[in-house]
Amino acid sequence: MTIAGDGNRLKGDSAIQYNVSGNVYNGVLRMQRFFGTHRLRLCRASLCRSTRIFAAIALAATLLFTLQVKSASAQATAFADAPPLLVGAAWYPEQWSEATWDHDLALMESGNIHLVRVGEFAWSSLEPAEGQYKLDWLERAVAKAAAHHIVVVMGTPSAAPPAWLTTKYPETLRVDEKDRRDEHGNRTQFSFASARYRQLARNVAEQMAIHFGKNPDVVGWQLDNEYGNTSFDPETRNQFHAWLKARYGTIENLNERWTTTYWSQSYDNFDEIPVRPSNENPGLLLEWRHFVSETWKSYSQNQIDVIRAHADPRQFITTNTMGWFDGFDHYSVHSNLDIAAWDDYVGAGPYNYISNGMTHDLVRGFKNKNFWVMETQPAFVNWATNNAALNRGEVRDMAWQAVGHGADAVEYWQWRSALNGQEQYHGVLVGADGTPVPVYDEIKQVGAEFAKAGAALSGTTPDSQVAILHTYDSVWAIDLQRHNEQYDPLGAIAQYYRPLQKMVQSVDVISPDSPLNKYKLIEAPGLNVLPQKTADRLMEYVKQGGNLVLGARTGMKDEYNTLYPQRQPGPLVDFLGGRVEQFYSLPGTVPVSGEAGIGSASIWAEQLSTKDPSTKVLLRYGASNGWLDNQPAIITRTMGKGTITYVGAWLDDALLEKLTAGFVKQSGVLPVLPGVPDGVEVCRRSHGQGSVLILINHNTKAERVDLHGSMRDLLADSTSQLTSVDLPPYGVAVLEHTGK
Ligand code: GAL
Repeated sequence: MTIAGDGNRLKGDSAIQYNVSGNVYNGVLRMQRFFGTHRLRLCRASLCRSTRIFAAIALAATLLFTLQVKSASAQATAFADAPPLLVGAAWYPEQWSEATWDHDLALMESGNIHLVRVGEFAWSSLEPAEGQYKLDWLERAVAKAAAHHIVVVMGTPSAAPPAWLTTKYPETLRVDEKDRRDEHGNRTQFSFASARYRQLARNVAEQMAIHFGKNPDVVGWQLDNEYGNTSFDPETRNQFHAWLKARYGTIENLNERWTTTYWSQSYDNFDEIPVRPSNENPGLLLEWRHFVSETWKSYSQNQIDVIRAHADPRQFITTNTMGWFDGFDHYSVHSNLDIAAWDDYVGAGPYNYISNGMTHDLVRGFKNKNFWVMETQPAFVNWATNNAALNRGEVRDMAWQAVGHGADAVEYWQWRSALNGQEQYHGVLVGADGTPVPVYDEIKQVGAEFAKAGAALSGTTPDSQVAILHTYDSVWAIDLQRHNEQYDPLGAIAQYYRPLQKMVQSVDVISPDSPLNKYKLIEAPGLNVLPQKTADRLMEYVKQGGNLVLGARTGMKDEYNTLYPQRQPGPLVDFLGGRVEQFYSLPGTVPVSGEAGIGSASIWAEQLSTKDPSTKVLLRYGASNGWLDNQPAIITRTMGKGTITYVGAWLDDALLEKLTAGFVKQSGVLPVLPGVPDGVEVCRRSHGQGSVLILINHNTKAERVDLHGSMRDLLADSTSQLTSVDLPPYGVAVLEHTGK
């Protein structure tokens, strides 16, 4: 990149032109105070990158800009004026006298914490009476944080309405499925569809945006907290009916799609339709979930509108979600958010690094880019059956795992125990007495390490060659009618993920609407709801050279949760050259054998058949219920430049692992780093110019890892080049290729 213009002036704004890869942009160089010093910020419409400088070294600034512009694509956030990796804490200044703030913030700063989230749940302090806003205290809190080199995520307070609100507008309180209205005293007691509630939430968010939208120390916004509770109040019911009407046009159309002649369910008008999340027509049940997803999306949009009207484009807007929680379609709810962020709690534990890593991969797939861990536990929680602490070293292990899977920030909940309130026992960094608890030092170490490795990881992201496909529609459809109670659709996804992760060490979990072409291998363990347009994308992927593996129960239904009139896998039958003749819920295990290996099926078995001579059988059932005996269990076909394979059974782990090894080999996918000991995780984050490896030893014994080349550990004190690395229990190494 080259810069031309008045970039040497150090006061005010300087108009410049800069050139990136041959494109010329107009921009402004602006001096701003940050992290206790001055820095130069390059701003352009929605692009605003900045860095820290100490004086008028325009040349140095040019080099730094070069790095940052290069890294723009993978970074979770649309700014780079904070450290590339952040450690943060949830801070609730309203719970403490202002006299304590400086002390707490100084402890954060000395603990290498450079991020706080504030404002969340503080509605009664921000608007003590309707329309009377009081934001001066929050301004002082943000200014004090900035003085301690701490950036801020502003939380809108709508997850905790004040008592005056619910007293004056009781209709805003949510109503549960059994028709009981919630009451004040807990949180999330509002109806997510209430127009009145939305207006009030929007008003306070707008005031916050007016105050903080241009504040350079506020890096982003978190809307509400952990969307989840739905409502069955009359207003929500009316909205559901109106939503159905808009979607189906006529009641006749709905009746036909849902086959409502079944049990005389036929409706004369939309208002007759029940509003229930269970025990109903499958068409209704899926649509209720779609409606809930749309309602959360518009709930976000309501606040996004007023925040965006005042916020600098560099401030991101997100909300914090709960991993695999499936109360709404996260792909849809993230469509109007800038980044994904989630709350990573182990709860009762123990910490399972494979499933935790899989959740990071899921969250990264919500926006197909880096994300934030907005909350995680400083050792323990207060809400599990047994609130056991993570072992010493595991908090750091988890922080690096998050980064390894694409997190650019890790924030601990919470900073300091509130004196009262529902969560007095929760893990913290600082006790109610204002002094550090033991885990503080471990988190301080994480902060120091993030600072050391931050520059190398800036702009990098995991880059996988294999993907697992996941849709909420399919998970819901299976879960609503499991047919075998052991058939857990998320368990099926995890079963496919585990061996893949072990073999190739980097897996994306994505929606089938994501770009597919970069993947050499795609596994779709259970696309039960398979709209024609998704089937078309999958067929195109295979024709272009992709290897597609479909799991049991694929292609049974369309997007209305209606059975396809053809057998499974519905719109893929002809392409596969085979189909499912019958499915069986298994009472025990069934032997299976063939070219693919030997093992057993349990829970679920589909009797497959081939219809085209080019479709081959890879596995057959042994003696079983008579129906399955000697019938195909896996079939495969080469189509175009790729392959399509259908696995019709829930196989034992060992056999699935063997099968996965075959798929990986066939696809030509190589592990990131071969030969690592079990329990050592390898993560790779790359950008165009290179990559960084993060090794984490999740074991309680030391491990040695052969690096198959020469690398430097960015966390080590020495700069020596290593060909192997020794990892103590819970040890971490962040390795950069030295090119030797
Ligand atoms: C989260 C929630 C936080 C806090 C935390 C305790 O789910 O977002 O506000 O309650 O749990 O673990």
